[in-house]
Amino acid sequence: MQFPKDFLWGAATAAYQIEGSPLADGAGVSIWHRFSHTPGTILNGDTGDVACDHYRRWQEDVEWMKRLGLNAYRFSVAWGRVLPTGRGAVNQKGLDFYKRLVDGLLRAGITPMITLYHWDLPAELQDCGGWANRDCAKWFADYACLMFRELGDRVQLWATLNEPWVVMALGYLWGQHAPGIRDIGAAAKAGHHMLLGHGKAVCALRSLGLPNAKIGIVTNLGPQQPASDSPQDQMVAALWHNFINRYFLDPIFHGEYPDAVISFIGEFAPKAAPDDMQIIQSRIDFLGVNYYTRNVLAYDASDPIGSRTVYQEGKLHTEMGWEVYPEGLYEILKWVQAEYGDIPLYITENGAAFPDAPNTQGEVDDPLRVDYIRAHLEQAHRTIQDGVPLKGYFYWSLMDNFEWAFGYSKRFGLLYVDFETQKRIMKSSGRWYAEFIAGQRQ
Ligand code: FCB
Repeated sequence: MQFPKDFLWGAATAAYQIEGSPLADGAGVSIWHRFSHTPGTILNGDTGDVACDHYRRWQEDVEWMKRLGLNAYRFSVAWGRVLPTGRGAVNQKGLDFYKRLVDGLLRAGITPMITLYHWDLPAELQDCGGWANRDCAKWFADYACLMFRELGDRVQLWATLNEPWVVMALGYLWGQHAPGIRDIGAAAKAGHHMLLGHGKAVCALRSLGLPNAKIGIVTNLGPQQPASDSPQDQMVAALWHNFINRYFLDPIFHGEYPDAVISFIGEFAPKAAPDDMQIIQSRIDFLGVNYYTRNVLAYDASDPIGSRTVYQEGKLHTEMGWEVYPEGLYEILKWVQAEYGDIPLYITENGAAFPDAPNTQGEVDDPLRVDYIRAHLEQAHRTIQDGVPLKGYFYWSLMDNFEWAFGYSKRFGLLYVDFETQKRIMKSSGRWYAEFIAGQRQ
């Protein structure tokens, strides 16, 4: 398996999941800080108060990246560290943290990819309605513009939003993520305003004329397949495909929401103002794809949405309960190309949680994760051979971290983290990935 010479070999993280010190140096409260401190929201009552203590240990973590041989690292900026209330006054100390991190990465020969929004909205903006408020698109674009001005000379890869579908569905519709809202109207508005914020941020970057900066968005995609040939199973699979895979990409690439979803949500459908779709359609330079699994769907009249996910007996599942289905990576990337054209792609997340633990020698052996990564890289390679412009792969995640509503119970890392001592141990998957990357560089 030989990948292109300029392929990016990375790992990904997100601010709230690893940094800890959420209020340090003048940072403002985020919705995830508030949510995780609300009893009953997170497994075992876990919070991101300490997480991987990366805010203080970032230099050590860059050393680990060097040992892994990464040439790229995707991380997110906590909006509220830079702008404690989400807008207005800049908190220089928060900004300096990211400047130091970027400079440290560049010194190590590691290309940074910054995600501007990985779910930690400043709580003050939530008190004004959050993404359900149309003004949030402007607040986001202003924050993005500030980051482009401050770091656009050094950072060439910018992602606006991480998985807006998950924010809309889990944050505003089903309430399992911050801000914990269950309101279909608010969800549809939040989705539309995220798209608008994304488009405005793209325009802001273009207007600054930074010669090397590239901008895109990160979406969670995956095959949504019918459990049988029955017309009803096919219908629900098509609806989920439209909802998960097309809902954010159709507006960005085609300037319209998928009809099937719009008619399904009826009166709650988002209302676009006249110029919105033009802004949302602003040309992006790349698309980030987060791929974990597929869904096999069957019609189920007893379910509010009329469908259920069918468990695939006999297939390996990760600790998240997600089926390991590497072919889905190939299928979805080919679909993206067929549907939206030759847009450069990055696999911005792909990974697996397994119940890792150090053995008596203090080593963490995780053969299932090695198999997972290898199988997905094989599919990535096949995709490139079949003409898809895939430019990089970021494993999720660099290290075990705070897995949202599951707290610290799910370990995705290449590095094992002992959350008592903050000691990192390279898992055998980390060693395998390092060797694989080294082999590609020869
Ligand atoms: C994705 C998120 C990421 C992580 C992985 C497991 O949906 O973007 O932060 O939680 O899932």
